[in-house]
Amino acid sequence: MCGIVGYIGPRNTQDILIEGLSKLEYRGYDSAGIAVYTDGGLQVTKALGRLVNLETKLESAPLAGSVGIGHTRWATHGKPSDVNSHPHTDATQKFSVVHNGIIENYLELKDELIASGVEFVSETDTEVISHLLAREYNGDIVEAVQKVIQQLRGAFALGVLTEYEPDRIVAVRHASPLIIGIGEGENFIGSDIPAILKYTRNVFILNDGEMALLKRDSVKLMTLEGNVITREMTYIEWDAVTAEKGGYEYFMHKEIHEQPRAYQDTMRGRVDESGRKVVLPDFHMTDKQIKNIKNVQIIACGTAYHAGLVGRTVLERLVRIPVETDVASEYRYRSPIVTPETLVIVVSQSGETADTLAALREAHANGAHVLAITNVVGSSIARDANDVIATLAGPEIAVASTKAYTSQLIAFYLLGLYFAQVRGTQTEEQVAEILAAMQALPEQVDAILAREEEIKGYAEKISSHKHMFFIGRGLDYAAAQEGSLKLKEISYIHSEAYAAGELKHGTLALIEEGIPVVALATEQALLEKTVSNIKEVKARGGDVMAVCYEEDAKELAKSVDAIFTIPKTLPLLSASLSVIALQLLSYYASLALGLDVDKPRNLAKSVTVE
Ligand code: F6R
Repeated sequence: MCGIVGYIGPRNTQDILIEGLSKLEYRGYDSAGIAVYTDGGLQVTKALGRLVNLETKLESAPLAGSVGIGHTRWATHGKPSDVNSHPHTDATQKFSVVHNGIIENYLELKDELIASGVEFVSETDTEVISHLLAREYNGDIVEAVQKVIQQLRGAFALGVLTEYEPDRIVAVRHASPLIIGIGEGENFIGSDIPAILKYTRNVFILNDGEMALLKRDSVKLMTLEGNVITREMTYIEWDAVTAEKGGYEYFMHKEIHEQPRAYQDTMRGRVDESGRKVVLPDFHMTDKQIKNIKNVQIIACGTAYHAGLVGRTVLERLVRIPVETDVASEYRYRSPIVTPETLVIVVSQSGETADTLAALREAHANGAHVLAITNVVGSSIARDANDVIATLAGPEIAVASTKAYTSQLIAFYLLGLYFAQVRGTQTEEQVAEILAAMQALPEQVDAILAREEEIKGYAEKISSHKHMFFIGRGLDYAAAQEGSLKLKEISYIHSEAYAAGELKHGTLALIEEGIPVVALATEQALLEKTVSNIKEVKARGGDVMAVCYEEDAKELAKSVDAIFTIPKTLPLLSASLSVIALQLLSYYASLALGLDVDKPRNLAKSVTVE
């Protein structure tokens, strides 16, 4: 989830690009760069790290010109570094491109270009675009861009500038957002409204499959095939802070709503074209190593640990390997039994959590192969691990993790299926069925989000309580633990998650008249038993809200006080949907209490002390 900006007009282009990028740093801050057409031709300056590093470089060697494109990077393919930063250029330095998204078939294209003699300087997927532009250019940059995008698969928003036609910028939107800002005698592109809000409130919001040709005095909107589109301008009324949050009141709410996209991005390029097989292009473990795995240890903290609990069940069910999941701060001190056949999976959104990093090093020291599932590919954890599966949730700003957690679940499903393919523990049909259900998840999440109002009432009700419970069995129990943590951290309501069947072994003593209990009831094989546990709670006066499938709602309604239904999915995937309801519940409870949702007291986004 990178940030793109572009400018054409009479003002100081460098300043406008830097200002725009400063408003987009929340989309990524691994590196930044700009390309400007100057008297000396197309010139590019880029710098690793935060935008200030780029500004420092530009202070001593400014780029003066009246057209340019810029980028702030959230690394996906290729670690954060100067060369992997955007804009990317071709070998002749005549074409520059900024890109947000993922080119799924970049490896194929890269091989083909290398075979034709092209030399690559970066590890990114984006660089193929600049070389392809150079190959396809025949005097018309719009035509060249059209030819290139026909060859690309994936999600991308692009800004393109060529030295041959410095009076124009070409912008493309294909499944990654892009807007065009309209000024007087000047025009802008941005991956998001904050990038251009200081200069104009008049925008064209590009739809998927559309492109634009920007000159100083005109903007032409087209389909990717070149058919001209006429559209009314949109006037943006948001202030700068609201714009940064995409119009949402809190980042957490925005990030909850970004989950359909995060699911898609994390799957993108990892399912082959037939949709029946997982491919992990950046994965280094050999089939032999995978076949030799004797046991798996998943290590993480907090929400990432809860993803690891789901991961355990996913791997055990799909691959039939013994899996343990440990809290990182405990792992090191229990003398874990690790052999060279142990695969250790560390899960971390930030990739910087000290406890997880220390556990990773312990596992390494004991000879384990370590795989990191992380949202930050340039992080310490990603660097230290032998293998990385990147979750492509984009930067997560709210302290309470939402889209990173659900992207971690997607990563576990993909990993489980990949291992199952290699070890032959699932048939091709079974893998295809799970992949088809995974492809449906983004739309199903959207369907849940469209009904978020339904959760508000129950959230308001629980906001007046001091204690509450979440119960469930199997994967519902794993999701319950995440729901309970979410509520605690942002509403300060004390809550406990219990395996529904365990309640009667002590905790039931705490159930009294009116105490809220959220019961997750999607594990269909265990439904009858869960219903019995719900009845135990109801008999003691508990106020129960069930999260279940539509088809079970009628039956459950007899035993509970409120119901929130989720779309039907396979048992293995249920947490990816049920947890959305729980995130919304905690969000609205926090809101009802008037708390700072994004910055809960006593907590930090990245915990770098043990
Ligand atoms: C809770 C939350 C934390 C983190 C934990 C690990 O919403 O965000 O529990 O999950 O601190 O952080 P990472 O995943 O960055 O290692």
